[in-house]
Amino acid sequence: MPSEKYQQIFENNKQWVQEKLNLDPDFFTNLSKDQSPDFLWIGCADSRVPANVVTGLEPGDIFVHRNIANLVVNADLNVHSVIQYAVEHLKVKHIIVCGHYECGGVKASMLQEDLGLLNNWLRYIRDVHRLHQEELDAISDEAKKYDRLAELNVVEQCINVIKTAFVQKSYVNSGYPLVHGWVYDLKTGLIKDLNINFSQILEKIRKIYKIG
Ligand code: CO
Repeated sequence: MPSEKYQQIFENNKQWVQEKLNLDPDFFTNLSKDQSPDFLWIGCADSRVPANVVTGLEPGDIFVHRNIANLVVNADLNVHSVIQYAVEHLKVKHIIVCGHYECGGVKASMLQEDLGLLNNWLRYIRDVHRLHQEELDAISDEAKKYDRLAELNVVEQCINVIKTAFVQKSYVNSGYPLVHGWVYDLKTGLIKDLNINFSQILEKIRKIYKIG
């Protein structure tokens, strides 16, 4: 017997459909034809950071990829397929890497524990830690250290996005997509833009990663 919470989803869904139809009888008909979102969101799988909800965007507005700790791993076919499709076919104007404070993945990466399969995934965050070890070691407050690693992880994943050939090619040809690094604060619900210097990162990266 499915739980009440499970059954409730179908009720919620019917109610949501009705609300949308009340506002616009063609809502689903129009949405079913095509999608042309301006944004690609690469975020954490954490249940408390739902892309559409925190951004106030509607279905069709944002293309979403989520995994533990919002990583853009160079050999991950999943995330790179998403980026390529978003850039080359959907022609998104903005790619947002959104991390968050209190990220379980970031926290776990700072523990010296054997987490099985997860060790492999969390190692990418440990690599970020290693790249910024000096700065992080200088922070004595543990909570502040987690927060800073969450931010540095976002910046590093933005760099991984910018490294990709299709992002560089599209940007050189059309001026898009722009890449942004954000951190979501669970305690306030607010998004913080880390204001990464996209053009400066791109210029630096292209000295090494320029393709074509
Ligand atoms: Co997280």
